[in-house]
Amino acid sequence: MALKKGVDVKPATGKLGILLPGMGAVATTFIAGVQAIRKGIGKPIGSLTQMGHIRLGKRTDNNSPAIKDYVSLAKLDDIVFGGWDIFPENAYEAAVKAGVLEKSLLEQLKPDLEAIKPMTAVFEQAFVKKLNGPNVKRGSSKMDLAEQLMEDIKRFKTTNGCDRLVAVWCGSTEVYRKPTDVHSSLAKFEAGLKGSSDEIAPSQIYAYACLKMGVPYCNGAPNLSIDTPALLELARQQKLPVTGKDFKTGQTLMKTILAPGFKARMLGLDGWYSTNILGNRDGEVLDDPESFKSKEVSKLGVIDNILQPHIYPDLYGNISHVVRINYYPPRGDAKEGWDNIDIVGWLGYPMQIKVNFLCRDSILAAPIVLDLALFIDFAQRAGMSGVQEWLSFYWKSPMTPSEDLYPEHDLFIQLMKLKNTLRYTKGDDLITHLGAEYYD
Ligand SMILES: NC(=O)c1ccc[n+]([C@@H]2O[C@H](COP(=O)([O-])OP(=O)(O)OC[C@H]3O[C@@H](n4cnc5c(N)ncnc54)[C@H](O)[C@@H]3O)[C@@H](O)[C@H]2O)c1
Repeated sequence: MALKKGVDVKPATGKLGILLPGMGAVATTFIAGVQAIRKGIGKPIGSLTQMGHIRLGKRTDNNSPAIKDYVSLAKLDDIVFGGWDIFPENAYEAAVKAGVLEKSLLEQLKPDLEAIKPMTAVFEQAFVKKLNGPNVKRGSSKMDLAEQLMEDIKRFKTTNGCDRLVAVWCGSTEVYRKPTDVHSSLAKFEAGLKGSSDEIAPSQIYAYACLKMGVPYCNGAPNLSIDTPALLELARQQKLPVTGKDFKTGQTLMKTILAPGFKARMLGLDGWYSTNILGNRDGEVLDDPESFKSKEVSKLGVIDNILQPHIYPDLYGNISHVVRINYYPPRGDAKEGWDNIDIVGWLGYPMQIKVNFLCRDSILAAPIVLDLALFIDFAQRAGMSGVQEWLSFYWKSPMTPSEDLYPEHDLFIQLMKLKNTLRYTKGDDLITHLGAEYYD
C-alpha cells in the first residue's frame, strides 16, 4: 500500500484481542506487565506508545502531545490476551517458571493470569530441537492444523467479544531455513500445507491461519516466517499489515545506538566482538546450533547495514564481527552481554570500547510487544497493508517492502521514520530538522 496523507482511521472501539503464539518469558512478562499497569502498580517504561511524545510544528510552538493522544490507539483496559503453547501451564504458572517478575507482584495478579490458558499448539520438533511438550494438536495434514488454528481464533474472538485481533509471535526461535519453492507463491504454499511439506514450519502455519482470519501479524523471532513470498501474497490479498522480525532488545539495541554514532563522526571500526550468557528457555533453545544460526544471521546483519562498507571501505571495509550466545542456566532471564569494540581514529590510531550490559531480556522485550500490537492494530484501522517498514524501530532484522531495498537499522532514523509516519497519516507537516523557518 502507498502511504496516504491524512487518512481516516477507524476508531478503536471495543476490545482488542492480542494473540500470542508462544507463552513463555516474553509473553507472560508482557501480559502481567499490562495487568500491573492497569491496576496502577507499575509504569509502562520502555513503551513508546504509552510514554512517548511527538513534536508537532515548530520548536517554538511547544506542542508535543503524547503519542497515545495524537493517534487512535487501543486503550490498555480494552486489551484481552490469548495464545498457544506446547506446555499447558496457565499464564501465572508460566510467569512463575520464567522467573522474570517477582513472586510478590505475580501474586497480586494471580486470578487474572490464571484465567489465561494456552490453546493447544502446532509444533514440530524438527524446528525446535531442544523442546518437546504435551499441549500439541494432532491433525491429518498441515492444512488440517492450520484450520484448527483458525477455529481457535474464531472461538477466541467470539468468547471474548473482541472487535479486532492482532498476533505477535513470541514462540521459540526455530531452526535456520531459507525459503524454498513451497514458499514462492500462495498456491504452492497451500498445496504444501495439504501435502504436509517438511519445508513448512509451525510458525508459518500460525502466520497463515492468522492472515486467513484477517489478523495482522508480527514476528518476534528471527526465523523465516511471514517474510516469504507466499505469506506476503496472502497479506496483500487480505489487505493486512505485517511486520518483523526478531525483537531488538539487549545487545543489538546497543549496537544500533552506538554504530550510528561512530559513523556520524567518521570513526573507523576494525572489529566488534559480542558475547552473552543467558539461562532461560530461550537460551536453551539457542544452544542448538540450528536455532542459533537463525539468531546469528539476524544479529550479524546490523553492523554492515549501518556502516555501509561499500561506501566507506577505508573505515569499514574489513570488520571482524563475531557474535556468541552461551547457555548458562544460573543466569536465568538476566542476560549478561559483553562487547569489545575496536575503533580507529585520526591517522589510524586504535581505541577500544568495552560494554558490559547486565540486562533483563524479557523486561526489554515486553514493551515492544505492546507497542507492536497497538501500532499494527492502528495500521490496520488506517488501511495500511503489507510490510510496515515504519515499525523497523522494533526489529533486529527489519523487513522491507521490496527485496531490493536494504533495511534501515539506525535506531534514530527508524524513530524519525516512525514518528513521521504518524504525522503523515494525520496530515501534519513532517519534521525534517532543517529549521529554515527559524532564520526568518
Ligand atoms: N527476550 C528478548 O529480549 C528477545 C529478543 C528478541 C527475540 N526474542 C525471541 O522471542 C521469542 C520468545 O522468547 P522467550 O524468552 O519468551 O522464550 P521462552 O522460551 O520463554 O518462550 C517461548 C515459548 O514458546 C513456546 N513454543 C515454542 N514453539 C511453539 C509453537 N510451535 N507453538 C506454541 N508455542 C511454542 C515454548 O514452549 C515457550 O513457552 C524467542 O524466539 C526469542 O528468541 C526474545
